[in-house]
Amino acid sequence: MPGCQSGGSEQEAMGSAPRVLVTGASGLLGRAVCREFQSGSWSVIGTAYRRARPRLIRCDLTDEDAVRGLLHEHKPDVIVHCAAERRPDIVERHTEAAVNLNVHATSMLAKEAALCGATFLYISTDYVFDGRNPPYGEDDTPNPLNVYGRSKLEGERETLRLCPAALILRVPILFGEVESVSESAVTCLWLRVQDTTESCTLDHCQQRFPTDTRDVAAVCRKLCERARQEPSISGIFHFSSNQQMTKYEMGVSMARAFNLPCDHLIPLTEQLAASTLRPMNSQLNCSRLELLNLSVEPRPFNTAITDCLWPFTPDKRWRQTVFH
Ligand SMILES: NC(=O)c1ccc[n+]([C@@H]2O[C@H](COP(=O)([O-])OP(=O)(O)OC[C@H]3O[C@@H](n4cnc5c(N)ncnc54)[C@H](OP(=O)(O)O)[C@@H]3O)[C@@H](O)[C@H]2O)c1
Repeated sequence: MPGCQSGGSEQEAMGSAPRVLVTGASGLLGRAVCREFQSGSWSVIGTAYRRARPRLIRCDLTDEDAVRGLLHEHKPDVIVHCAAERRPDIVERHTEAAVNLNVHATSMLAKEAALCGATFLYISTDYVFDGRNPPYGEDDTPNPLNVYGRSKLEGERETLRLCPAALILRVPILFGEVESVSESAVTCLWLRVQDTTESCTLDHCQQRFPTDTRDVAAVCRKLCERARQEPSISGIFHFSSNQQMTKYEMGVSMARAFNLPCDHLIPLTEQLAASTLRPMNSQLNCSRLELLNLSVEPRPFNTAITDCLWPFTPDKRWRQTVFH
């Protein structure tokens, strides 16, 4: 792409901040990534689609011309690609649209990043593994159980094929500052925890490692900054909290954090037949990041989840609208 090749370094030589383009900047992780880079004195360009707001650029990443135009105009030094359809049940039902975003848009961005010389970071998932033989290292063979996992794995492969110097960061189930509790598969448990009048079963089979988006965002910045200095830093990395919990244990931890009873939460110890298969335990071994001193100490679940949920406690319901 003419003019794109040297844009970032010229800017930096002139003393201006390096530019990061964050896709999915209206989403759970993208918001935290934008904040993290802003706090690190980067110039941040965030893109969104349906939730594009004044400070975010509206761009349908499945529109190739729009993506080319976006990169040509903003000439980012780094692209952190967070946008995806990440709800496994929706991917199962609307596969074509999800593959368009998770695979084809990723291919396009990776190809353009390589042409522009931008550092490309693709966010992936522990769902690329089948969860039968944890923990999983970066070189272990993926075997996704559902269409979402397959689409993200295909996105990884396209990324490395078209942009061999790219970074891939696999992460597990995420939670963070949410616009509504239903936005994350972790915080959505809060509705059931709070309703102590109804007994409620929660899965106590599938092992998860709920991870705070602030920690993931900090790793993203460290990775990108280091990769820009050391071109040998590339390929696949894993990052995860080290606290293993089932959904039942997450619910109990939330109840305790807010001094609520938890007797109404019933551990479900049998796997129910589900339309979308999910891994039993896809624990990620994160030693590659740790050896390179690129990791951060994950926040403990009970304090991190309190930060996220307190705006949704009964006496603070009015605060539900603050995060816009
Ligand atoms: N959340 C998790 O538990 C989890 C776990 C493991 C891995 N991950 C990975 O982490 C990354 C971030 O996930 P997340 O939880 O932040 O997702 P999210 O909250 O669902 O956000 C998805 C983002 O993608 C954007 N998007 C959707 N369709 C688009 C399109 N056609 N063009 C441009 N942008 C589009 C959305 O924009 P609008 O909303 O503005 O339309 C939104 O910003 C994903 O790659 C996901 O696979 C997530």
